[in-house]
Amino acid sequence: MKLPTNLCFSVGLLAVASLAMVACDPAPNDVREWSPGDHDQAVSTPGTANPRAGTSARPGAEIDLVQLAWEKSCVTCHGARGRGDGPQGPMLRAADLGRVEWQDRVTDAEIAETIRKGRNKMPAFDLPPQVIQGLVVRIRGLKHP
Ligand code: HEC
Repeated sequence: MKLPTNLCFSVGLLAVASLAMVACDPAPNDVREWSPGDHDQAVSTPGTANPRAGTSARPGAEIDLVQLAWEKSCVTCHGARGRGDGPQGPMLRAADLGRVEWQDRVTDAEIAETIRKGRNKMPAFDLPPQVIQGLVVRIRGLKHP
């Protein structure tokens, strides 16, 4: 039985777009089943150039790790914008990492050291050096007037 077009359309609104297309397209000739291999293959067919294929194993992986570390380890105290307004921020007096007067006098090495060793109520973080460095860069971007 063929579904009426308008029903097909409303199903399409509810369903994930690709599923709806498979369900409603009368001749899905070029749609084939997804297989796990699709995900791992570096697509290098001419015309379907994937800009990330072949550059390095995981471009951006470090940035992901830094973001993850920030969200998992820092935001509870320092807040998403680093202003010391995370859920635990006021209680522990977490520093506002964007303060210009602090940003202007602290060195990158000192920031890294605080993260690595902790200070007073702030715990130490045993993170890989690249992630600590990424956090320093991130903190530098928080500077606000
Ligand atoms: C449990 C709460 C808590 C967590 C989690 C936390 N901090 Fe802190 N942080 C603090 C407190 C409190 C201070 C102020 C320490 C002091 O000088 O007494 C501070 C200070 C700092 C400072 C120095 C700021 C200044 O003004 O001297 C930096 C840099 C910093 N934190 C970065 C981070 C980073 C990056 C993370 C995540 C990896 C993190 N913190 C996680 C509580 C926390």
